[in-house]
Amino acid sequence: MTSLLKVTDLSVEYRVQGRKDPIVALDGASLDLPETGYTLGIVGESGSGKTTLGMSIMRLIERPGRIASGRVEYKGADVLQMDKEELRRYRWKEVAMVYQSAMNSLNPVKSVSQPIVEVIQNHARVPGPEARERALQLLSEVGIRKDRADDYPFEFSGGMRQRVVIALALALSPNLLIADEPTSALDVVVQRQILELLRHEMRSKGLSLIFITHDISILSELVQNVAVMYAGEVVERGPHDKVLFDPLHPYTESLLGSLVSLDSKADIERDDPAPTRRVLPLEGAGENYCKYVASCRYAFERCVRERPLLRETENGRFVACHKYS
Ligand SMILES: Nc1ncnc2c1ncn2[C@@H]1O[C@H](COP(=O)(O)OP(=O)(O)O)[C@@H](O)[C@H]1O
Ligand code: SF4
Ligand SMILES: [Mg+2]
Repeated sequence: MTSLLKVTDLSVEYRVQGRKDPIVALDGASLDLPETGYTLGIVGESGSGKTTLGMSIMRLIERPGRIASGRVEYKGADVLQMDKEELRRYRWKEVAMVYQSAMNSLNPVKSVSQPIVEVIQNHARVPGPEARERALQLLSEVGIRKDRADDYPFEFSGGMRQRVVIALALALSPNLLIADEPTSALDVVVQRQILELLRHEMRSKGLSLIFITHDISILSELVQNVAVMYAGEVVERGPHDKVLFDPLHPYTESLLGSLVSLDSKADIERDDPAPTRRVLPLEGAGENYCKYVASCRYAFERCVRERPLLRETENGRFVACHKYS
């Protein structure tokens, strides 16, 4: 069966002035959203490549970045080979993204409804009043009253601006929404409201979602599936209850471990028979080793001479770790 979205072995690098070697932001990352309605959380620490992966799916990697290798397929179509017209249809109508920090970069001299009207009119021959009516409808769906549609971004709180950005992404009723850290700059109460809004959109419209975050704790109520990124790779992917409560990859385990309260963590550490070991790559090993090896308490000899690839271990669970192969 053709997947809704499939990313295969994607590598992206950024050339930075003054550096001999490029920064490798994605290093063979793979993802699969099998069908419409699928919801996936992508979690990983800052710098692990989450935004680069989202931008690659939108085909928005620009210089000094470049996609060095790999594939992005949407409903079987090769996104990296799409022409201008195909790409125009793909972005916004099929896949839309709430960009990281977008709520702080709304155009200050445009009212909040204006960019939504513009997106609608840029993509369809809709008369002005109709486009405006649709924009107002979208704003009210995300909780912004119609009588505020002509106000400017600075007149809104952070949470309200984030709602505007979500309405903008939903302007052309996309199939798949990519939301890049949409709650990171918000306080906990507002964060919950935005998550509730996204949940509502998913349910009522059957929308598929990729939700990018560095905070694993907010994923359990929002998405059915979780992918964990480390150093430009997806190291684990599977149903959220499995990944969050019974992780396979040692890195996921440590991410979850850091959430446990200090008291219970001390108990776990006392009971834990596996001492932390440091196994370092052999000289001349090149890229052919597990990138997590220096921090991994389970590392063994194979980990420093062979790179683990993402493999299915059981139905719907994938992990890149030699412990499981
Ligand atoms: N425009 C850019 N120029 C140079 N390096 C970049 C650029 N964007 C991202 N990077 C680098 O790529 C890596 C991955 O970044 P990013 O995708 O933003 O990670 P995340 O979203 O997980 O924090 C980081 O090392 C980052 O410094
Ligand atoms: S491959 Fe080895 S070093 Fe890497 S995570 Fe698995 S056990 Fe640890
Ligand atoms: Mg990011």
